[in-house]
Amino acid sequence: MGKQRFLISGGQGKLAKYLQEELSKNNQFQFFAPTRSEMDVRSFDIIDKTIRIFRPHYFIHCAAKTRPMAQHEINPIDSILDNIIGTANVVNACISHKIKLIYTSTDYVYAGNLPISSSSTYDENSPLLPCNNYGWSKLGGECAVHMYKNSLILRLAMADYPWEHGDAFTNDKKNWIYDKDVSPIIVKLRDEIGIINIGSPPVSSYEFASKTEVVKPIQIEDVKNVTLCVNTSMNLERMKHGLIKR
Ligand SMILES: NC(=O)c1ccc[n+]([C@@H]2O[C@H](COP(=O)([O-])OP(=O)(O)OC[C@H]3O[C@@H](n4cnc5c(N)ncnc54)[C@H](OP(=O)(O)O)[C@@H]3O)[C@@H](O)[C@H]2O)c1
Repeated sequence: MGKQRFLISGGQGKLAKYLQEELSKNNQFQFFAPTRSEMDVRSFDIIDKTIRIFRPHYFIHCAAKTRPMAQHEINPIDSILDNIIGTANVVNACISHKIKLIYTSTDYVYAGNLPISSSSTYDENSPLLPCNNYGWSKLGGECAVHMYKNSLILRLAMADYPWEHGDAFTNDKKNWIYDKDVSPIIVKLRDEIGIINIGSPPVSSYEFASKTEVVKPIQIEDVKNVTLCVNTSMNLERMKHGLIKR
């Protein structure tokens, strides 16, 4: 059997770099992770040309406008171009070339307003209602991906490793997982289809960050320029089942 080829968009991004590290461990894998200047997903033609040259079996779509979250409120045009139109271009290219598409979405597509004391969780079929423009831009991308059946949408509750802020919320709840730990999960789940929530058991940001860093405790209300989700706790059964199979 020939090597499995992976095309990773947004190759200079943090998760994309961890994915390259992970894929390098297996000599049956080949990857190409073009930078934004090499493959801007705003251009269908560039994506199409890159696919024709590299001929990937999998397209892992990591390119996105991400942080700071407030920028999506200030300049929604760029969020729409990169995260919604860019993702639609990627989907159309994957459909044309019959390539498996893996899309890195977010827990921010859920409303994230579960009471902190509640043990309720969002599963992959729960209603979606993003609380801010970043969430809407990633959900906009999901809409296109969902229309292509040979796809996998991963809803990540991902943090950059190491914790990059000097502080963390004590009064939120989320399935935090570091980007370095997400990359092996993505590789293992590559042949799944549909939607899968990805994370660790839900805790506050402070509890999660304090495991590895010294951080200052703050409250979610201390952030003024963007609405943040309070509790996006997700059901992780699909992820666990997918990983057991591997
Ligand atoms: N980090 C999180 O907390 C988190 C949580 C859940 C989901 N996600 C998703 O996971 C994925 C990876 O996140 P990350 O933390 O690795 O983000 P990141 O470090 O910001 O990487 C994203 C990369 O995409 C590039 N990019 C932006 N627009 C592009 C375009 N039009 N064409 C090509 N490349 C473009 C960026 O380049 P420039 O820097 O030049 O713009 C950057 O290199 C994203 O889809 C993100 O939405 C992230």
